[in-house]
Amino acid sequence: MDEKIISLKNEITEKVSAAQTTAELDAIRVEYLGKKGSITALLKGMKDLSPEEKKTFGAKVNELKEFATQQIDDRAKALKEQEIAKELASMPIFDITTPANLDRGSYHPITLVQRQCETIFKSMGFAVIDYPEVVTDYECFEALNIPKHHPARDMQDTYYLSNGQLLKSHTSAAQNAILKKYGKNLIENGVPIKAIFPGRCFRNEATDACHENTFFQMEGVMVDKDISISNLIYFMKTMLSEVFRKDIKVRLRPGFFPFVEPGFELDISCLICGGEGCPSCKQSGWLELCPCGMIHPNVLREGGIDPEEYTGFAFGLGLTRLAMMKYGVKDIRDLNSGRLKVLEQFTDDE
Ligand code: DAH
Repeated sequence: MDEKIISLKNEITEKVSAAQTTAELDAIRVEYLGKKGSITALLKGMKDLSPEEKKTFGAKVNELKEFATQQIDDRAKALKEQEIAKELASMPIFDITTPANLDRGSYHPITLVQRQCETIFKSMGFAVIDYPEVVTDYECFEALNIPKHHPARDMQDTYYLSNGQLLKSHTSAAQNAILKKYGKNLIENGVPIKAIFPGRCFRNEATDACHENTFFQMEGVMVDKDISISNLIYFMKTMLSEVFRKDIKVRLRPGFFPFVEPGFELDISCLICGGEGCPSCKQSGWLELCPCGMIHPNVLREGGIDPEEYTGFAFGLGLTRLAMMKYGVKDIRDLNSGRLKVLEQFTDDE
């Protein structure tokens, strides 16, 4: 019997030191100490021994059991440490004392005013709609009561693609699609059309401090029964006082646009020179910011809406101009320059 114990002891020592993983060790633990393990079998077999033998042999088996447990536990600890060391060695070096990179860039000033205007109009129940930059002649002109050879096209010369499509010269190009899309809900359910659609516009023109070939506008429309100029003025004033956080001097004067009747130019007093006159306002002290008007019956009709029953207003806010006024940017060309020194200084003050 003693021989059996000695041979088991040797066997365990050999196997445990040869084990390379914790899984192998677990198998050894089961083999010797498990329910059907060799040491467990020895303990079970003692029931046939005399009380004297039980005492001496039992002590030896228990000693073997403790020995085996200790051996396995020690090896498990060593293997675990080895595994951790291996994992650490394969990890990239991470120095928590390195300062964080706080240089995260900044939003473009036009993005800032666009988002601000979106928030203001959303709070007044307007939907914000995105629209492509490449449009058809129909969307940009015909549907807006500007037929071919109309002189109003002169001021909106733009870039044409070889397939006859063009880069939109104003955000009004989305009006027809929006009237058609939301007109249904207006006619069937009486839900007014209230939408703004900001976007990039293009014009083939010479650049100076206040003209660029690429600029941003934000168009807005509202159509319902009994919409009048008073509604238009209310929304414009609310928007401007929210954007500038102070009372802004505005003036409304007649303006011609084929897609509105009557049409207006909404000017604000130049915030760069305080109304004295400077290159940014063409020395006039006023800046055209938001042409607007009551949607022309032909435009409503083209959008599938009966002008006898419904009326609406539209406006084309110059987002680029608004950014210039709000942040005191004197030359429009700085905004498209990509010069980080210029663009990095603006922050969202909300
Ligand atoms: N689309 C015109 C332009 O860019 C601006 C404009 C004028 C838009 C009157 C409107 C409007 O919605 O009612 O020159």
